[in-house]
Amino acid sequence: MPNDTPEILVQDKLGIARAATLLAAGKLVALPTETVYGLAADARSDAACARIFAAKARPRFNPLIVHLASLAQVEALALLPDPARALAAAFWPGPLTMVLPLRAGHGLSPLVTAGLDTVAVRLPAHPVMRAVLETFGAPIAAPSANPSGRISATTLGHVLSGLGGRIDAVLDGADCAVGIESTILAPAPGGTRLLREGGIAREDIVVITGPLITDTTPGAISAPGQMASHYAPVAPVFLNMPLTDRDAVSIGFGSGAAEFNLSPRGDLPEAAANLFRMLHAADAAALGRAIHVAPIPDMGLGRAINDRLHRAAAPVSRNSEHPGQA
Ligand code: TXA
Ligand code: MG
Repeated sequence: MPNDTPEILVQDKLGIARAATLLAAGKLVALPTETVYGLAADARSDAACARIFAAKARPRFNPLIVHLASLAQVEALALLPDPARALAAAFWPGPLTMVLPLRAGHGLSPLVTAGLDTVAVRLPAHPVMRAVLETFGAPIAAPSANPSGRISATTLGHVLSGLGGRIDAVLDGADCAVGIESTILAPAPGGTRLLREGGIAREDIVVITGPLITDTTPGAISAPGQMASHYAPVAPVFLNMPLTDRDAVSIGFGSGAAEFNLSPRGDLPEAAANLFRMLHAADAAALGRAIHVAPIPDMGLGRAINDRLHRAAAPVSRNSEHPGQA
């Protein structure tokens, strides 16, 4: 059973070796990636993966991303239809997840894939995460390290406040530089589907894939975990606000006064890196007030930022229909 307070591991050789040892023993270890913190477990172990779902209160139908150290490891688990190889060459290691057909004899726990015949895989770029993957030498399942439906964690402090009593260890990796989860694509020769906006901008992806297939059906769930209300702070969130209401906590973008500013110089990668940290901070500062957010341009990483903000602002009552999300 997890301790009340998890072990805090330092990002040195000893800490990395300890994280790999704990994973091999079926434990839950929160690991830093360049996007957000992941809640990691041995992807081959039913018992370890079951503990991820329990710790997050995540519904079992929502599959997990498998993190790997090399393309050779990906090929042992999954097939790479065109244009998967070109996408891998362009964006791995990095904030891209690909949903690929499973290969027979993959060895993953069926909990990882939620019984689907595909698997979501990613080669992360964070040096600490890469070192753990190389030391562990096997696939690591890791959803974002937050309670299901709440704001993702980009600092060790977020992980401790969200999941502290429910995990075995956290590896300190400094803050997550990209700050927003990976882009999820399902590559196929007839056209690549965009399942989740994320850390790689569409503009950079289409150069390789051509036009993307996006799900424009209202209310449709493209990746199983993409429900309307998600990334939800406790305080109500209102978007595209002028930030003049003194009774609300303000999150700005670009010039103009605000309690928190995602990027005073109007830089979208900087805003993505700050998004979850400022949502956590604004939520803590709200004390019964609402959170008002300035408009964010819907281009580049702004699309992923707006996706997360729209989910943060969606009515929380939806959470009772879908009691937990990613
Ligand atoms: O940046 C990231 O992707 C972070 C870091 C930790 O790697 N991980 C992350 O995991 O965001 P999570 O579990 O919060 O989101 C994974 C999403 C979920 O919406 C899930 O439904 C979707 O990936 N997914 C996983 N396997 C899938 C599959 N086979 N087909 C379609 N969607 C899948
Ligand atoms: Mg998540």
